[in-house]
Amino acid sequence: MSEPATVLIPGWMHEHARDMLRSQFNLIEIPDCDLEAHLTAQQRAAIRGVACYTTIDQNFIDALPNLEIVANYGVGYERVDAAYARTRNVVVTNTPDVLNEEVADLTLGLLISVVREIPKATAFVRNGEWKTSSFPHSRLTLRNRTVGIYGMGRIGRCIARRVEAFGLPVAYHSRRPAEGVDYAYFPTLLELASAVDVLISIVPGGPATEKTVNAEVLSALGSEGVFINVGRGSVVDEDALISALRTGTIAAAGIDVIVDEPNVPEEMLALDNLTVLPHIGSASVSTRTAMADLVARNIISWFQDGAAITPVP
Ligand code: DGY
Repeated sequence: MSEPATVLIPGWMHEHARDMLRSQFNLIEIPDCDLEAHLTAQQRAAIRGVACYTTIDQNFIDALPNLEIVANYGVGYERVDAAYARTRNVVVTNTPDVLNEEVADLTLGLLISVVREIPKATAFVRNGEWKTSSFPHSRLTLRNRTVGIYGMGRIGRCIARRVEAFGLPVAYHSRRPAEGVDYAYFPTLLELASAVDVLISIVPGGPATEKTVNAEVLSALGSEGVFINVGRGSVVDEDALISALRTGTIAAAGIDVIVDEPNVPEEMLALDNLTVLPHIGSASVSTRTAMADLVARNIISWFQDGAAITPVP
């Protein structure tokens, strides 16, 4: 029998993935990505797989001469330099599909919370204010509104299905029209924002989408407009969002992601028309466990069968 491969976990990883990998491989666990500090040259040369939820850059990849696979925990893999990995013949995997419905559920929950002011209503009851007054009627509504989805990938489609079930028309923008999708397509984000009342962003992070939700796009949504972000914080120009909310350029926003997580800018916390969630789109016990399972199975499949299950495109 051949020796089990050596697999590295740098920093945090879901316990389920750790357990699965520990049972199959020679697992090395270190607290962060400082390979020189934690590993000998001999250990680094032995490492053939990495399971991660952290930044994997060129230097990291270069420090592991026999690396074959990097399995990222999460569908978004912008922190892994996949383009460079490819030049080194290193396979990168992510965790698509297992979280689609969970993220779509959270998206609709956040949208309704923002429009019907559920967090404020809860605080109203807790503070005893209901005993002496009625909660003010919400200025916003989803009735007769059109919802624009920025990003019509797998999660975008799950969100669209739910929006349709609420009786609301769906329109979308993505790099190109999505196959098998009949919703109204807008070739630019600005055109989409001009045509809808609610804009939901579910595009991945990275240079192609950075700050694409800017002042102009937000202004096109209009003063009754609502913005929801469940993709990546980097997609939004946060200064423009703060200003649009402060000046009433848009009515309200709900975001599950910010640029510098978990450091929420003070100006955001001061806004009462902004709901910020702590990046919980996929964060149920069952879905996060399914994601961890896929991380481990990608590595197991690579070393057992020579093929990963969900390599990134
Ligand atoms: C993902 O899978 O990318 C989610 O945002 C959780 O990190």
